Order: sequence, then structure tokens, then C-alpha cells
Amino acid sequence: MNSTMPGVLPGQERQASRSLSRPIQARIDLMALRHNFGVARRHAGSARIWAVIKANAYGHGQWQVARALADLADGFALLEVETAVALRQAGYAQPILLLEGFFAATDVPLLASHRLTPALHCPEQLAMLEAAATRPQQVYVKLNTGMNRLGFRPEALGGVLECLRRLGIRAVTLMSHFADADGGRGIAAQLDCFSALASGTGLPFSLANSAALLRYPETRGDWVRPGIMLYGSSPFADLPASHFDLRPVMHLESRLIAIQTLGPGERVGYGGLFAAAGPMRIGIVACGYADGYPRHAPTGTPIAVAGKPSRVLGRVSMDMLACDLSGIDAASVGSPVTLWGVGEGGVVDADQVAAAAGTLSYELFCALAPRVPLRWD
Ligand SMILES: Cc1ncc(COP(=O)(O)O)c(C=O)c1O
Repeated sequence: MNSTMPGVLPGQERQASRSLSRPIQARIDLMALRHNFGVARRHAGSARIWAVIKANAYGHGQWQVARALADLADGFALLEVETAVALRQAGYAQPILLLEGFFAATDVPLLASHRLTPALHCPEQLAMLEAAATRPQQVYVKLNTGMNRLGFRPEALGGVLECLRRLGIRAVTLMSHFADADGGRGIAAQLDCFSALASGTGLPFSLANSAALLRYPETRGDWVRPGIMLYGSSPFADLPASHFDLRPVMHLESRLIAIQTLGPGERVGYGGLFAAAGPMRIGIVACGYADGYPRHAPTGTPIAVAGKPSRVLGRVSMDMLACDLSGIDAASVGSPVTLWGVGEGGVVDADQVAAAAGTLSYELFCALAPRVPLRWD
């Protein structure tokens, strides 16, 4: 990265420089992000890459992530027209794909004036384009090939393309999104449906999210759209991120703020869900569900304290959680704790924390609370 690259707009740094005495912090490793982009590049072959930075770059800070990837990504994919316009104003010149297209007729002039690429997915958007005085020159047409979330049904494609021709919009790319590229059903049915539609058109296309990019090279097409793999997590429940040489980007760290010594049968936290079988030391960590840590993480969820693996005990509360200090005699108030990622506390795989809590690391990252300061390294 150098000083000629687009920057972070004033007021968009989030808590970059804010330092609080409460010890929790999320460190964002931008070199790991760039490394992971390299992994995506290797899998993408000759396809171009949309770096998916929606949802504040999956909680990692969209401005810092865009800046870190500015010289690598072929384009950025996100949701809000306002964010896309702000990126343009900050000097980003690469293509920007709006994954849900646009939401109001007042957005349409901005698409043209800022060279944004909307993903058109419904007749209402076409009607707004028809009514507009200025229109975008490049669009994606999103096809519903079985996910039944967004997209035109296959039989509508001819009419959509005809409408775009009439409106003078010539740069058209076809896209679809897989419902189960990470799961047992795979992509076959959706890919068959898409291929049958796309082959006659000769148009470029974009299909692959992280899971498809890693598992199904036949989906690469002209542009791929990796998200979660850039942030260092595995899209697959049965394969760790390390299997793909992905490195964690978000490292959530805190410290012990108290230590309790329990006698046999004594219980921990709300509801007393954990009872000590014998005498034991436990640590209280400055991290709770108001920081974005999942409240449903049960006893046994991995955590690391003072360089050693440990486990969460009892119910996570708003601002604190308890962990087991058995065998971690060196732990004392102030000892470092790693909630996920790699830190002074130790190493904890965010995907394993998520699995223990019955969710995905996507949700852990996106749910990180605004009160947690981010630090970009
Ligand atoms: C349309 C679309 N493309 C690509 C992605 C990136 O997916 P992933 O983070 O699984 O790589 C998403 C994320 O949900 C999406 O909605």
C-alpha cells in the first residue's frame, strides 16, 4: 500500500484511533487479508475477482479493507449505493457491483454518474430504469436458478435482455448465487439451470462465492465473488480454513478482570449452568454478548488464556464470560485472553467458536459490536 492509493474518508475510521481502558479489542490483520486474496486469485484462474466488502467488510471495516485490497481486487461488491458513491469520492476507480441493485428511483442517476454496476433482480427495478432519464451503462442480471431469494426466473430472461437492449444498456453480465455450494446438495442443479440459460446468450457471467470458488472450478466464469475466504474463514463445516492456506484476519482479544476460586458444587453465572465438580479456579473475561460474543456459546466453547487453550464456562452475560483456569496456574487478573484468532492469549479458530455456538463465523464477525474498538495492523 502506498500514499497514492485511495484513502479512508474522514469520519469513516470507526474506532481506529479510539483507545478505551476496557481491555477488549479486535485486531484486523490486513496482511492476512491480502494473503487470503492471493489464495482467491490462485483459485480464480483467469476470472476477475469482486472482493465482497458488504456488511462493513463482514465486520472488518469496509474502508480499511477496501484500501488494503485496492491494488489487488478487480472490483468491489457491496450493497449500499451510498457506500459505493463514497468509495468513488475517496478515489476508488475500479468497478463496483451493487449486489442487490438499487432500492429507489432516486438511486438510478447515481448509478450512471458514478459508474456503478447494479445487479438487477426484479421487474420493479427494470421499470425504474425505463422511467429514468439517465441509466447505468453496465448491469448484472441476476437469475433465480433455485435459491428463490433474488433473481428473475429463467423464463423471464429473454424479456429482460430485450428490455435492456431497448434501453441501450449493452454491457450485460449474467449472475446467479448458489444456495448450497458449501453443503451436500452442491451446485449441480443450479449450474445446469444457469448453463442452459446462459449458453445461448454469449454473455459473460459470475456465479462463484467462496465455497464454489474453492470446491467447483467449473463455476469460475468471468468474475468470481469471494467474501468469507478473504476474511480467513472456511466456508465448509468439515474443512478448516488452514486446509486452504487461509489466515485469520480478525483477532478478538481481551483480558481477565477477575478470578474466582470455586468449591465443589459451586455454580457460575446466570442460571448457574456450570457447577464445579471439585475445587477449581475460573477467570472472568471482559467480553460478553454486548460485544458481539455469541450468548449461545455453551460450556466447552474454545477460548485461550495466557497462551493456553481453555473453555468457556456457564452462560455468557452481557459484558463478561467465565473460563476455566484449570492447569493455567500463571493466569492472573490482566492475563491476555483470545476469544478468536491469534493473540497473546493463544490461538482459537473462529469457525470452532461459531460451531460451538450453533452459528457461522460470518455471523460472529458481522455481529461484532460497535463498542469494540478495531485496530488495523
Ligand atoms: C450474491 C453474493 N455473492 C457473493 C457472496 C459472498 O459469499 P461468501 O462470503 O460465502 O464467499 C455473497 C454473500 O452472501 C452474496 O450474497
